[in-house]
Amino acid sequence: MSGTAHLDQRWVSQASAIALEAGARLREFFAQGVETEYKGDVDLVTVADRTVEKLIRTRLAEAFPEHGVYGEEGTRERMGGEFRWYVDPLDGTTNFAHGFPQFCVSMGLEHRPGGAGDVLSAEENGTIVAGVIYDPMRDELYTAERGHGAWLNGKPMHVSRIEFLAESLISTGFPSRKRHDSPNIHFYHEFTLRSHGVRRAGSAALDLAYVACGRLEAFWEFNLNPWDTAAGILLVEESGGRLSDFAGGSFQLNSREVLASNSLIHDELIVLFKDMFAGRDLAPIPTPQEFAQHRAERAATGR
Ligand code: IPD
Ligand code: CA
Ligand code: CA
Repeated sequence: MSGTAHLDQRWVSQASAIALEAGARLREFFAQGVETEYKGDVDLVTVADRTVEKLIRTRLAEAFPEHGVYGEEGTRERMGGEFRWYVDPLDGTTNFAHGFPQFCVSMGLEHRPGGAGDVLSAEENGTIVAGVIYDPMRDELYTAERGHGAWLNGKPMHVSRIEFLAESLISTGFPSRKRHDSPNIHFYHEFTLRSHGVRRAGSAALDLAYVACGRLEAFWEFNLNPWDTAAGILLVEESGGRLSDFAGGSFQLNSREVLASNSLIHDELIVLFKDMFAGRDLAPIPTPQEFAQHRAERAATGR
């Protein structure tokens, strides 16, 4: 664990207790129903996001008064500290707001070395040392400690052993901001034709947790934020998976490209990304207009 702090088992145990409490609040809000507000375009937020972030911020300050907190709903506390929690109080807000039961609490702890001459700039990443994701609808708690493994409800978890994309179930997500700038639908198309299928379930943190526990072989997304990925990337690494950007370079919390896999299909995915960015080897499908024309021709000829 060079460059990182000595592991403190309270990180995961305390964060787990906080995530369980936060998840219970989300379950209550989910049952009663909440009004939806717009942060922009189709970027939704609810009273549940704000209330639960406040709860987590308060609990983290009680448990770890010296740790920083960086939350999606605006929390920026003790940002100069050696440790920083990235908090997504509700990952999957769109699902939550529609009554679709796929969402979670995500908390990842970053160690940012602070010794003399070893201070990270605001843009540089430290090392994620602990991660907790809680799915309150399934009562599934995913935890990981750097160098010590990853667990689902206390049982060790491992990525899947599938070796080929053609036999894989994978997943992705789409941004809720600047939707017209995203090329991801092209990748969705291509990966769908080359795998058992691509799920788009609406919670990036759970997608990463599912790669870690072997339900999915891979996950990719453009433009995620550190609160979406901090906990999940550690789960994947500690379950034997691999992380990178789309070119195979090392994953950075602020790099805004995440490719996570069971490691066995990773190289195959990187080749496909490279080919796609270069415009090579794309599997054609009919346009809706071509499809309609063929259908009309078949109907006219009776074939
Ligand atoms: C979103 C979810 C979704 C992903 C979006 C994220 P939020 O987070 O993780 O799966 O596709 O890019 O913004 O807004 O529900 O916390
Ligand atoms: Ca999120
Ligand atoms: Ca969120």
